Amino acid sequence: MTVIEKAREQASKSTLDNSADTTVVDMHTHFLPSQWPDLEQRFGTPDWPWLKHTEPGKAMIMVGQKEFRPVYEALWNPALRIEEMDRDGVDIQVMCATPILFSYERPAAQAAEVAQIMNDLALEMCSHNAGRLKALCQVPLQDIDASCREVSRAKASGHIGVQIGNHVGPKDMDDEGLITFLQHCASENIPVLVHPWDMLGRERMSKYMLQWLVAMPAETQLSVLSLILSGAFERVSRDLKLCFAHGGGSFAFTLGRVDNAWHHRDIVREDCPHPPSHYTDRFYVDSAVFSEDALDLLVRVMGEDRVLLGSDSPFPLGEQQVGKLVREHSSFSPGRKSRILGANAQAFFDLE
Ligand code: CO
Repeated sequence: MTVIEKAREQASKSTLDNSADTTVVDMHTHFLPSQWPDLEQRFGTPDWPWLKHTEPGKAMIMVGQKEFRPVYEALWNPALRIEEMDRDGVDIQVMCATPILFSYERPAAQAAEVAQIMNDLALEMCSHNAGRLKALCQVPLQDIDASCREVSRAKASGHIGVQIGNHVGPKDMDDEGLITFLQHCASENIPVLVHPWDMLGRERMSKYMLQWLVAMPAETQLSVLSLILSGAFERVSRDLKLCFAHGGGSFAFTLGRVDNAWHHRDIVREDCPHPPSHYTDRFYVDSAVFSEDALDLLVRVMGEDRVLLGSDSPFPLGEQQVGKLVREHSSFSPGRKSRILGANAQAFFDLE
């Protein structure tokens, strides 16, 4: 019996579910390479991210000379990632960049170079076990032409999709340039994961990780509503495969409020011909919501075919035992668990 078969047997015994036959796909995880070229030296400007290895297995993500976040080896060591996947009964992991590397606020040519470096290093990590480790590329989203070029290059070299930050400075997802990029991805069948970053209201949320707890879900909701209320979904191809991280942030919980506003205020429906809830069949969300009640609501709002297992590991704000919330759900049918744990992601990414 292989390690993964053992893990599956254990997982299925401990939770009495029937998902042991499912190919489990964790579609939202982050990576950083163990090291990369010194960007401060390369570009001659300060405050680029780098990884300071502090002790065996541990490191600090640095921004210039400032400590950003302590991290551990799973972030850069593919062998350890596979071990943790075996422990949790995960067959395939989709890794994407840590948003601090997006560099959208930098000159576009520099962000394009960073994207190429990180995208190539991601594939190098995946090559450790190409069947089980997959990567989403990053692009220099402040330059749409360069982004289209890089996403096509990355797809041709082995990336299975792209992760983008949810905004570029003041430009939200209804920006014409961003729509052009989404359209390009739709035309080349490249799935897009939208990840919140560069959070709003920073000056009021300096303590207790409030940027991550309050602003991040709001960022994602802002992105979803930008697309819906601007009528962007009326223009973008139905072929677009679009997924929002963290269960779509505050979207599902506040959809009733938004629908009510659409019905009763003409300025809300100005550019949007249908009630906002009409558009939930145009995108997907991951399952990183950390409570059964929230997951129930999410599945009711989005449908069981539009929620994909995503853990946000290996960060402390991610699911610590990947898939536990879904596997141990008290009332989901085996079929529903199986779809959320893997079948939905297999279809989304065209995985075997
Ligand atoms: Co994440």
